[in-house]
Amino acid sequence: MDTWLASRADVRERRGLVRTATARAGLIDLASNDYLGLSADPRVVAAAAAALQTYGAGARASRVVCGTTGAHQDLEEQLRRLTGQESALVFSSGYTANLGVMTALGGPGTLIIHDAHVHASLLDGIRLSRSPAVAVAHQDTAAIGAALAARTQPRAVVVLESIYSVLGDAAALAEVAALCADFDALLLVDEAHGIGVAGDGRGAVHAAGLAGARHVAVTATLSKALGSQGGAVLGSHLLREHVLNTARTFIFDTALAPAAAAAATQACRIVRAEPERSRRMLANAAALAQRCGVAAAAGAVQSIPVGSADRATALTAALHASGVAVGCFRPPSVPDGVSRLRLTARANLTPAELDRAATAVAAALGVMP
Ligand SMILES: Cc1ncc(COP(=O)(O)O)c(C=O)c1O
Repeated sequence: MDTWLASRADVRERRGLVRTATARAGLIDLASNDYLGLSADPRVVAAAAAALQTYGAGARASRVVCGTTGAHQDLEEQLRRLTGQESALVFSSGYTANLGVMTALGGPGTLIIHDAHVHASLLDGIRLSRSPAVAVAHQDTAAIGAALAARTQPRAVVVLESIYSVLGDAAALAEVAALCADFDALLLVDEAHGIGVAGDGRGAVHAAGLAGARHVAVTATLSKALGSQGGAVLGSHLLREHVLNTARTFIFDTALAPAAAAAATQACRIVRAEPERSRRMLANAAALAQRCGVAAAAGAVQSIPVGSADRATALTAALHASGVAVGCFRPPSVPDGVSRLRLTARANLTPAELDRAATAVAAALGVMP
């Protein structure tokens, strides 16, 4: 085994694909997904601390044994209200929510049609579901229509992200939802990068007038704009009951820690009460894009193609050295093989931080001021 592990390490080294998990502090953060700056908001932290005192550190069991607490129920109610959905089911992460919903809806009788750029958690869920699956080119609505028209299975699910995590562009939700309605298919939208961001924070599905539509369901993570941890499936009561009773990542996984649930609950309240946060974040994202010479993305993520994995690694290291943390996306995180710097804007970036970070990124990329 050691010989094989060492040979794999060699291959990663030669291809510029070495990843590390190192604690970094003191850098201007353009790498995290804390889009609204809520992870350190004193109200969010206080809610988590109070839940720790009330419920203890861990949930102690699966949601269907005795892991469900008042903190989970409050969170589901707040998520439902924020997104305008009929019901919500909270999971321990966005990853397990996606695995859970795909396996609960999939199987030989369900055709799954998905954008080629959807997140790894959705792709893993599709594989696990043993459904027949069609990957369509990124943002190819006509190809979705053609796959729906050609289907032979009794059911179909179309899977998209509302705002794509790597490219930062927005899906054509209204058009795809209309196709799904025509072909009696379910549209499943991963709003990991949409909730807290699009539609004054209520998500792109809400902004498109699709919240509560019977043929549209949503998955969410609580670990990005909501500043906490966890994930959710949002949709009809019927969908919630089905997922609760069949998703193995719900039934066989310990529930989300109550403190994380309480933090996310408070974050949902803040997002609804303070829509100016998402507007400020989007203004910061647009300013950052302009200074770095790229078109403004649909959400917080500004994706800058830089070519090879080695160049992405070198630029990221140079920016770290000048005090700015950026995301470095290389294969297999980039489905088209093009490595990218991924800059995320935050609502709580100060003008001075924004200026310093944008100057450093523009200089590294050779963009003229
Ligand atoms: C589009 C998308 N879906 C799902 C996830 C998984 O969410 P979590 O980090 O809560 O497991 C992520 C996070 O990276 C994501 O970007």
